[in-house]
Amino acid sequence: MENALIIGASGGIGGALGVALEEKGVAVTGLSRSVDGFDLMQVAAAEAALEAVSGPFDLVVVATGALEIDGAAPEKSIRAVAAEAMMDQFVLNAVGPALILKQAHRLLPRRGRSVLAVLSARVGSIGDNRLGGWVSYRAAKAAVNQIVHTAAIELARSHPDAAVVALHPGTVQTEFTRKYVGRHASVPPVDAAENLLAVIDGLTAEHTGGFYDWAGKVVPW
Ligand SMILES: NC(=O)c1ccc[n+]([C@@H]2O[C@H](COP(=O)([O-])OP(=O)(O)OC[C@H]3O[C@@H](n4cnc5c(N)ncnc54)[C@H](OP(=O)(O)O)[C@@H]3O)[C@@H](O)[C@H]2O)c1
Repeated sequence: MENALIIGASGGIGGALGVALEEKGVAVTGLSRSVDGFDLMQVAAAEAALEAVSGPFDLVVVATGALEIDGAAPEKSIRAVAAEAMMDQFVLNAVGPALILKQAHRLLPRRGRSVLAVLSARVGSIGDNRLGGWVSYRAAKAAVNQIVHTAAIELARSHPDAAVVALHPGTVQTEFTRKYVGRHASVPPVDAAENLLAVIDGLTAEHTGGFYDWAGKVVPW
C-alpha cells in the first residue's frame, strides 16, 4: 500500500488510521469537516469537494459518521422517531458514503489491488438486531451496507482487483461513543486502527461487496 485517502480524517478512528498508515510509510491524504470544511450535510458542496480530489489511491477509507446529529439522540423506541432527525441520519450515514462511492471508479486504480472501506456498524445488521431502538442510525447503516454492496458489484466490472467493503470497527472509545459506551467492552482508537488495517491487509477482490467486523469475520446483513 502506497497512498491512502481518509475521508473523516479528523475523527477518532479516521485520525488513528491516518497515524498508523503514516507510521507504515503510506502517503495519507485526509479530508474532513473540521479541517477542510468538507460537510456531508451540504451535499452539493461535498460533491464538488469530492470531484476535486484526484486519485488514484490504493486505499480509501470512509470514516465519517455520527450517532447524534444536531443534538438528536438515537431513539430508544420506534415511538421516538422524528422525521427531520431520521432524514439527517440518512444524509450523513447513507447518502454521504454513496456520494463518495459515486467517485470510486476514479479514486481507485483500474488495475492492481485496492481497497475502499466504508465504516458501517454492526447495529446496521438486520440479522443481528435483537434489541430494537436506535431506529434511524440502524436504518441508515443498513442502507449504507446495501449501497456498498451495490457499488461493489458494479465496480468489479471495471476494477477487477478492487475490494469495496463495509467494516464494523468494534466499539471504539471516541467522541462518537462517549455517552453510549457504558458497560460495553471497548478499545482505544489506536487498537481499532490496528485491527482494521489487519483486516484491510487481508482483503482481496474475492471479498468485495462484503460486510466484515474488526476481526475479519463476516457480519450478517
Ligand atoms: N466508535 C465506535 O464505537 C463505532 C462503532 C461502530 C461504527 N462506528 C462508525 O465509525 C465511523 C467513525 O466513528 P468514530 O468513532 O471515529 O467517530 P468520531 O470520532 O465522532 O468521528 C466522526 C467523523 O465523522 C465526521 N463527520 C461528522 N459529521 C460530519 C459531516 N456532517 N460531514 C462530514 N464529516 C462529518 C467528523 O468530522 P469532524 O470531527 O471534522 O466534524 C469525524 O471526522 C462512523 O461511521 C461510525 O458510525 C463507530
